[in-house]
Amino acid sequence: QFDEVPGRYKVRSLALAESGRHQIRLAEHEMPGLMALRAEFGASKPLAGARIAGSLHMTVQTAVLIETLVALGAQVRWASCNIFSTQDEAAAAVAVGPDGTPDDPRGVPVFAWKGETLEEYWDCTEQILVWPSESGDDGAERRGPNMILDDGGDATMLVHLGLQYERAGVVPPNTLPGEPDHTHEMNVVRDVLRRALEADPLRWTEIAVSIKGVTEETTTGVHRLYHLAEAGELLFPAINVNDSVTKSKFDNKYGIRHSLPDGINRATDILIGGKVAFVAGYGDVGKGAAEAFRGQGARVIVSEIDPICALQAAMDGFQVARIEDVLDEADFFITTTGNKDVILAEHIVAMKDKAVVGNIGHFDNEIDMAGLAKVPGVVKTEIKPQVHEWTLPAGKSVIVLSEGRLLNLGNATGHPSFVMSNSFSNQTIAQIELFLDAAKPEGERQYERQVYRLPKVLDEKVARTHLDALGVRLTELSKEQAEYIGVPVEGPYKPEHYRY
Ligand code: NAI
Repeated sequence: QFDEVPGRYKVRSLALAESGRHQIRLAEHEMPGLMALRAEFGASKPLAGARIAGSLHMTVQTAVLIETLVALGAQVRWASCNIFSTQDEAAAAVAVGPDGTPDDPRGVPVFAWKGETLEEYWDCTEQILVWPSESGDDGAERRGPNMILDDGGDATMLVHLGLQYERAGVVPPNTLPGEPDHTHEMNVVRDVLRRALEADPLRWTEIAVSIKGVTEETTTGVHRLYHLAEAGELLFPAINVNDSVTKSKFDNKYGIRHSLPDGINRATDILIGGKVAFVAGYGDVGKGAAEAFRGQGARVIVSEIDPICALQAAMDGFQVARIEDVLDEADFFITTTGNKDVILAEHIVAMKDKAVVGNIGHFDNEIDMAGLAKVPGVVKTEIKPQVHEWTLPAGKSVIVLSEGRLLNLGNATGHPSFVMSNSFSNQTIAQIELFLDAAKPEGERQYERQVYRLPKVLDEKVARTHLDALGVRLTELSKEQAEYIGVPVEGPYKPEHYRY
């Protein structure tokens, strides 16, 4: 069922590597930001000595990120941050490496496949935190990663919980502040922590001490980091990659605009035009989702809790309503809030026959799947992997995508390369920032155990590297114009508080 060398890789099949390699080659062409970073830093190798534990959807685009980090000198171990999001051919190609063959894999240790169980998921996450011992130039034992690259915060959470567990000698509390209450999943995490500690009593202390920083990809993971920092519990500096403008205002919006309909089409092939689509949340992801539905000719209804976003949605021409008022009206229900309990079982039972229900926010608690499973007499039928029909007692049914997990990665292949090049350029720059800062003498370091954003000048740099590919000709400021509006000719062009 797997191709596996314990501690080295575990993927669905190395035979998929050739297909993965072709897809990576084409993706590189669409990822000018990452390729520019390879050209800029490939010789100086600023990440030499970095041991990066990566927990981020193991897609073709992520493969280009991984190989960029390696080109910049890093050693890397990788797992996916979602049980359904791996593209098996990308995982195989990364494990084999650009110069290896399936018989002689020479790539990056990767532990990821599409359709993991929760137990397998957390085992894979632990695998990226366990580095084989080796003696470095300084003769020191190396046992853990020294950097984390996270999406959603699961790898960071495992280190924090592991340390709590090791120090207090008890299984950590059910949830972190602000955490979704995933009782079953937390039990799985506890088992991983317990087993890891039995195998190696000081594991979590050593890992926590060796980590110099984390760079976090998404809104939900960033929320977790701010909670930890506010509680004074964050163990290492963090860079919030999500809130680089060239991440959240591009990936979250334009990426979703592409990958949401992609997921719905691959899963259901139901015509969107003329139908009614309900989108919960009108943040960056919700804006992309609503625009995608409108682009396909759907009538879109948005829900919001924030009056500013609700007003924006109304001004953009969308009806703004509460879910309970449109249950018998909408054909598609999509959650984009990063919040929990947005679609409840009682909502689902009142929906139209064959309504499509899906989530594109980070965690699966936006839709009450546990509550749906408990509806008396409900029957779940697998139409195909990640597409289930739930037949309700009244005889009608709804179609639930990816079991309530993010459907653009579960039912399709996530965002396209060009937009991910923006996000991952920020990730790469953030890794360099934190890694090089930690190498400075203690008094000279810029980053403490807090959450930071990249400076605007780097944000603008990321955008700049993507202009040529789109044939954009930027207007240049004259010195007089620059003085008149009070910005440097070379940027940054906007104050920190500017919202784009
Ligand atoms: P955001 O904070 O910009 O937007 C979320 C919006 O939901 C906010 O405007 C908020 O007011 C609203 N909201 C909160 N609770 C609500 C409720 N009960 N009903 C209606 N609206 C509610 O966050 P962003 O960046 O849009 O991200 C949303 C989620 O999507 C996060 O979990 C994020 O991690 C995830 N994400 C997923 C991606 C994917 O590829 N699937 C890509 C990027 C982000």
